[in-house]
Amino acid sequence: MSTRKTKSETVPRQPAVRRARTTKAAADAPAEPVVVESPSAPVMSAAPTSPVSTSGDEIIRADEVFKAFDIGTQMVLVLKGVTFSVERGDFMVLFGASGCGKSTLLHILLGLEPPTKGTITFLNEDMYAGRSEDDRAQFRKHHIGMVYQQSNWVKSLTVLENVAFPMMLLGEDKTKSLEKAYDTLKVMKMENWAHYHPMELSGGQQQRVAVARAIITDPEVLVADEPTGNLDYEAGQNLMYLLNDLNHMGKTIIMVTHDLEYIRYSKTALNMKDGRIEGVYRDQDKEALESKLTYKKADFSVLEHKQ
Ligand SMILES: Nc1ncnc2c1ncn2[C@@H]1O[C@H](COP(=O)(O)OP(=O)(O)OP(=O)(O)O)[C@@H](O)[C@H]1O
Ligand SMILES: [Mg+2]
Repeated sequence: MSTRKTKSETVPRQPAVRRARTTKAAADAPAEPVVVESPSAPVMSAAPTSPVSTSGDEIIRADEVFKAFDIGTQMVLVLKGVTFSVERGDFMVLFGASGCGKSTLLHILLGLEPPTKGTITFLNEDMYAGRSEDDRAQFRKHHIGMVYQQSNWVKSLTVLENVAFPMMLLGEDKTKSLEKAYDTLKVMKMENWAHYHPMELSGGQQQRVAVARAIITDPEVLVADEPTGNLDYEAGQNLMYLLNDLNHMGKTIIMVTHDLEYIRYSKTALNMKDGRIEGVYRDQDKEALESKLTYKKADFSVLEHKQ
């Protein structure tokens, strides 16, 4: 590892801040961690503010969020002053290189991991101040649906029962929960699979069921971390159509992806780089970004053709 010093903007007045040597890495290469050679908490200043939306009906707001992980005697600064907001009805796609902090940011938004500094405001309430882990878990149950790359199923339960489970956790009666689960599976065009066990389904089918389970309680926000990560191209596209439909029905969605092609389904695209928000793209900016990506792709295919 190089001993080159980083700029002091994110960890000012720290004695020894080291960063891995920059290489001409591929887009997917791990982001560089900033390593602080001190067991003490890093002093974090306000980094240059990221673009923030100001209009509309705000559901989530992250303000100057920093996250450092304690690893032995070192602190690794993963988020370096992230500020942005999500409006009701948005379809936000968060993209960036592996290791840049996307999942960490999602976990913080979801109340799973407190920020080292900064605040998360969710439905006008502070996600962390004065809230225990149990309070946050309750909040999640009511307001957030989650889909991951790989779903955790209760293997002894059928598809229908798995989807009904979050309703029952909210105290809803079993028969009503199962009825609602069936209706939700219908929206996903998965009702014919209701009495199978989830592990008997294909990856794409499982993800559709996972979305049903995530939205059965009608949460304000659906959060998906690489939901297409394990799917082939067609199943990935189908899942994106489904998410697109849900967004058109009014569901607010935040999705993390590696696949830049999915930016076209978003209303807002957020580019993360090395723990910061590098760019927020909406409207014409997003169109410009998309055409840039299409151009690159086209260019790439020409190169492939020549070989
Ligand atoms: N609990 C933890 N303890 C220590 N380090 C962590 C922890 N969680 C994440 N990190 C580190 O934070 C950095 C960002 O991780 P994160 O999972 O947020 O990246 P990511 O952008 O989601 O990457 P990917 O696209 O590969 O999923 C990584 O260097 C990771 O090792
Ligand atoms: Mg991740």
